Amino acid sequence: MNQSKTKPAEGKLGIMIVGNGAVATTFMTGVFMARKGLTKPVGSMTQYDKIRVGKGQDKKYLKYDEIVPLTQLKDIVFGCWDVYPQNAYQAAMYAEVLKEKDIEPVRDELEQICPMPAAFDKNYAKRLDGDNVKQCNTRWEMVEMLREDIRRFKAEKECARIVVLWAASTEIYVPIEKKVHYRLADLEAAMKANDRKHIAPSMCYAYAALSEGAPFIMGAPNTTVDIPAMWELAEKTHMPIAGKDFKTGQTLVKSGFAPIIGTRCLGLNGWFSTNILGNRDGLVLDEPENFRTKEVSKLSTLETILKPDVQPDLYGHGNDEDTQYFHKVRINYYPPRNDNKEGWDNIDIFGWMGYPMQVKINFLCRDSILAAPLCLDLCLLSDLAARAGQYGIQRFLSFFLKSPMHDYTQNEEAVNNLYQQYTMLKNAIREMGGYEADEEID
Ligand SMILES: NC(=O)c1ccc[n+]([C@@H]2O[C@H](COP(=O)([O-])OP(=O)(O)OC[C@H]3O[C@@H](n4cnc5c(N)ncnc54)[C@H](O)[C@@H]3O)[C@@H](O)[C@H]2O)c1
Repeated sequence: MNQSKTKPAEGKLGIMIVGNGAVATTFMTGVFMARKGLTKPVGSMTQYDKIRVGKGQDKKYLKYDEIVPLTQLKDIVFGCWDVYPQNAYQAAMYAEVLKEKDIEPVRDELEQICPMPAAFDKNYAKRLDGDNVKQCNTRWEMVEMLREDIRRFKAEKECARIVVLWAASTEIYVPIEKKVHYRLADLEAAMKANDRKHIAPSMCYAYAALSEGAPFIMGAPNTTVDIPAMWELAEKTHMPIAGKDFKTGQTLVKSGFAPIIGTRCLGLNGWFSTNILGNRDGLVLDEPENFRTKEVSKLSTLETILKPDVQPDLYGHGNDEDTQYFHKVRINYYPPRNDNKEGWDNIDIFGWMGYPMQVKINFLCRDSILAAPLCLDLCLLSDLAARAGQYGIQRFLSFFLKSPMHDYTQNEEAVNNLYQQYTMLKNAIREMGGYEADEEID
């Protein structure tokens, strides 16, 4: 390893997951199975990807753990919270993502993971009605109880470090309110005043994690850590934050395909994306207020890749103001498909002399199979970032996220182009490994 200032990954890493649903159980089962040599962690960058370090004669291609000190799979300990009391084995069976034969070999490990009572408010996910829920009078009390959970878990499981990952349901859309969400002091005051309208339960998890010295990752589109008050807390506690929304199926395709159109200077009239999905996530997203959160996250992808203001001839068509192409995203709850989501993209492009063409993409994916490796990578890399002394928004993790965080108060734009995001990821790994970040992001 090169001259890196990153601290070694000594001891156990506790991964505490909010939610014990399809994504969380597929992630945990896969890690346990891989640890026993019964499966391969396919799709995980931290386990497979090789990147170049050095140039010219010094050039070599190395796996991430040959560049930076990463936590090994054997050193991970899992814990979780959920509104439903079923243990991780029961929850994995209920989710029906994995076949029984892929769960049974690690049944013992999964049965030991029993969800702690959730910090929950039914107004934020009306379709859920489990009773494994904390009784608290205020949001501040919620935070205190979660902090206690984290401390207890860390001590009982003898973990050296903790990462908290949100893989729970999408909450209803919480519009950003300057008076509450911009300053840490205001956020804390609102928690103490039990302002349930502006303080989502997810914010209590994030606050608790950061205060206990644990990085926090938002895997749903919730605005939880996407507010200046949380950035302030992350700076104060020197903890990394990442979000939001795992970039798995349709948006992965979108952020990979849109650059083809942009790079060849083809025009775009419209992009219509629709999905059918039948798992509990689909059920929650069937509620318009919850879907709104997802819609905002999914819509943001194209705007920074195909820019109407930079190329008005190519991208300045379509919507009411006639300034941009049409972009529509729909998710339809359709139980027969369970976790096996089907997505359709219809892309109306145009070429030489404005002649129209169409591209159709039909992605028959498996939601949680795509999300699980992202969970692993986001947890390992957030832990790495903390050991490297990085804190606040971790832009290099945008690669894994549908709606990457960025400082919108400074008019900073998010990077959505998959290849630019990959460059950011590689540069960050190089830097944390003591090499030069030697690729330009253009
Ligand atoms: N699978 C994907 O491809 C993908 C992609 C992007 C984002 N996501 C997001 O990941 C999240 C998890 O997806 P999933 O398919 O596992 O959903 P799921 O419904 O199977 O699991 C979510 C679990 O979270 C629990 N929960 C809800 N609120 C909670 C709270 N306040 N505290 C503790 N637990 C709580 C629910 O009871 C449920 O068991 C969703 O928000 C989804 O939108 C998934």
